[in-house]
Formats: sequence, structure tokens, C-alpha cells
Amino acid sequence: MNLYERIPNNVNLSEDKRLQRALEKWLPNFLSWWHDMGPEGFQEKDVWLRTAVDVGSEGWAHFDYVKMPEYRWGIFLEPAQAEAKVGFGDNYGQPAYQEVPGEFRNALRRIIVTQGDTEPASVEQQRQLGHTCPSLYDLRNLFQVNVEEGRHLWAMVYLLQAYFGRDGRDEADALLERRSGNPDKPRILEAFNQPCDDWLNFFAFTMFTDRDGKYQLSALAESGFEPLARTCRFMLTEEAHHMFVGDTGLSRVVKRTAQLMKENPNEDVRQLGGIPLEIIQKYINFWFSYSLDLFGGEISSNSADFFAAGLKGRFKEQEQYTDHVATEGSFTLLVVENGKLMPREVPLRNALNEILRGEYVKDCEKGLARWNKALADEAINERLYLPNVRFHRHVGEYAGHHFDLDGNLIAKDEFENNKSEWLPTIEDREYVRSLMKPVTEIGKIANWIAPPAAGIKGKPFAFEYVRL
Ligand SMILES: [Fe+2]
Ligand SMILES: [Fe+2]
Repeated sequence: MNLYERIPNNVNLSEDKRLQRALEKWLPNFLSWWHDMGPEGFQEKDVWLRTAVDVGSEGWAHFDYVKMPEYRWGIFLEPAQAEAKVGFGDNYGQPAYQEVPGEFRNALRRIIVTQGDTEPASVEQQRQLGHTCPSLYDLRNLFQVNVEEGRHLWAMVYLLQAYFGRDGRDEADALLERRSGNPDKPRILEAFNQPCDDWLNFFAFTMFTDRDGKYQLSALAESGFEPLARTCRFMLTEEAHHMFVGDTGLSRVVKRTAQLMKENPNEDVRQLGGIPLEIIQKYINFWFSYSLDLFGGEISSNSADFFAAGLKGRFKEQEQYTDHVATEGSFTLLVVENGKLMPREVPLRNALNEILRGEYVKDCEKGLARWNKALADEAINERLYLPNVRFHRHVGEYAGHHFDLDGNLIAKDEFENNKSEWLPTIEDREYVRSLMKPVTEIGKIANWIAPPAAGIKGKPFAFEYVRL
């Protein structure tokens, strides 16, 4: 089978000789990257996976047993809209860009590379998890997320190769050369260099970090550079499943912990093989804060430039806003000044990272409400929560300062003294890891997590999702 038949696409690949040549070079490198850095130990197994073979409502979710290296990584864009316009910024209302506008070329390439880098990074972070899966259902979900992140890498590489010429091809190669957590050639964003080596990390990551992806992709789905907007719109349909995995995964962990607490009110959940709520809370604090960093600085000239250029919009720009130019208006946020938190007013366009982050926080709160309902359902009084957005930040206005979980400015010593109460300790991580024993019998599940309410695509939980 030739290359172009192996790559399902709706970008007319068979007609585009230049793109064919670029992909021909890149594909073997991608496959060797997948082999070296993709899920370890399961490459030859049949996995019941969803493959996108078309963008239509039927074609984008085709289920069958597939060996992961044979997954058909495709290139899909949502269909073009007739007479698409730039939806915001200084060029609001002008025809959408079908080619890369020269003056925005560097900015646009940077946006695409930064997004693209997260996709293989997460596969690298998760590559050992298969060995400790709590059930075949979860194992399958992990691999589904992994192959789709691989496809998202393809989506960004397509844009680089099709629209950026030589330097785009170089950037596409570099996406396969950086490595998550490698001090010499790390991934671009810090959340993607953190280890994700147990399933509680995985669920927190897909809940909080993939959800950052949803908001970045949503902002780019508004882009005036139409190929980017159409690519991101399609990626969002797949991204929804990743967040489902994280949200329901954590919900099932919380539910199981609550059951153990209810059945044995006088015992430590650890003695019963469950994950204590305080450890779950620390994992939430860790991944939520790192994911907040991904939105960038609170006050950002980049965000203003990207918006002005019509490259990156706000969340649901068309649906939620009437003023798409946003040159008037301001946003007030708290910044640290002379050792105190003080309000500062900034022009609206400079606060767009913070505004997008605010949308994200609202979305995360809904997840917390679901998990707290799982606690209430078992008559447990404790509740989980999100820490304040200033807590444990490494990017933006709050980086370099210290805050407690409520967002109060505190001294470094106070932070250090409380750190073990707020963030996972080595002992917490070791305890969680000690629970991670693989369960691979059909229909069985590990003791520390509840089974899902339903299986995948009409199949029961007790289904051979992966043939081992
Ligand atoms: Fe992705
Ligand atoms: Fe994802």
C-alpha cells in the first residue's frame, strides 16, 4: 500500500507532491519515535481503538482492533466555510488567511510548534503506564489517548509542512527530537516535562492538562488563519474523550475511596488499599497549578499581538462576544507590589491569557462538583476543591512569590513548612505507586478504583478491550 493510501486525509494529499515528499521523509522518523517513545510493551497487541477515517459524523469514529503502530494516523480538517472571515482583531471582517501572512509568520509558527510539542510529549510521559493498568478498559483508554495525541502531532506537522516551507520542515523534525523530562532537550512547556508515572497522575493530567489543550485549541479554532482553525476544530472532537478519561477516572477513584471510608469509618483508607482523599487533593493541587501556567502570563503583550493579528481569539469568540476588536475596555487583576497584592488595571487585549484561564477554571470547577457528588452519594462529608489560581505558579505574575491554597501571599518559609500538606510528597507518590499492580483479567478491576458506569461504544465493561 502506498503512503497516501495509508494516511486517511481530506487535504488532497494525493495531488500535493510537495507535501507528499515532506511526509515521506517525516513518516519513518515518526514511526521510529513511536516505537522508541510510544507505549512500552504493547506495540504488538490488538487494541479496540477508534480511528478517524473521515470528518463526517460517521467516519470520524470507526472502532476496531488495531495494533498501535498500524493505527492510521490521518490528516483531517473540518470542511472549509464559504467566505470565511477573520473573526476578531485589527483585521476583523476581512477574508480569512488561506496562506500564512508574512508579517505574522514567526508568531504563527511559534503557536503551532508550541501546540504541536505538547502532543508527543504527553505520549512520552505516559509510556510506562500500560504496565500498571487497573483494568483492560482503562488500558484501552490510555492507548486511545496516546494514538490520538500522535494524530494531533500529525495535524500540527501537516500545517508546518504544508504552509511554512523549509523552516516548517525543520520544526516538524525537531518535534520528534525533544524529549519529555530530558534536561538537554526538554519539551517546551513545563507541565509536559513532569513525570506521569502512576494512574492517579494520568487521570489528573488528562483532567487538567488536556483541558488546557481544549482551551488553547478553542482559541485557535477561532483563528483567522483558516487551515489552523479548521484543524483545531477537528482535534477538539477527539480531545473531548481525553478529558472524559481524566474526569471520570478521578471520579471513580474518589468514589472507591468514599466507599472504603463508608464501609470502614474507623480505618485509614491506606490500610484498605485505597487512595486517601488528602493525596487526591494534593495531586489536584499539583496538576491544576502546572496546567494554569500553560496559559502564559496574566499580563501579556504576546496575547495582545496574537489577538490583534487575528491569530488567536477568545473562548467562543463568536458566540460569547459582540465586540471583536477589544481595543476598548480593561481588566483588573491582582499583582504583587511592594510585598502586597494590589489591583492593577490593564488593557483588555493584554489580559486575554488571564481571561482564557478564567474560562478554564470555571470548567474545572464543574469536574470538582461531580467528584464531590460522588462523595456526597456515599455520605462522606469531606470535599475536594481547587486551590487558588495564585498557588504554586511558575509562570506569570505570581511566579517567584509564595501563596497558600487560598491565594494569600505568604513568606517562602511558610510555604516550605506547609509544602508537604499541599503537594504530593515522595511518600505519597510511593504509596500511590505501591497500589499500581496491573489487573488485566476481562471484567476485573483494581481495588483502588471503581468500575466505570458504562463501557466504550456500547460494549460492556467486561469486554476484551486489549488482546494480551
Ligand atoms: Fe492533543
Ligand atoms: Fe489530549
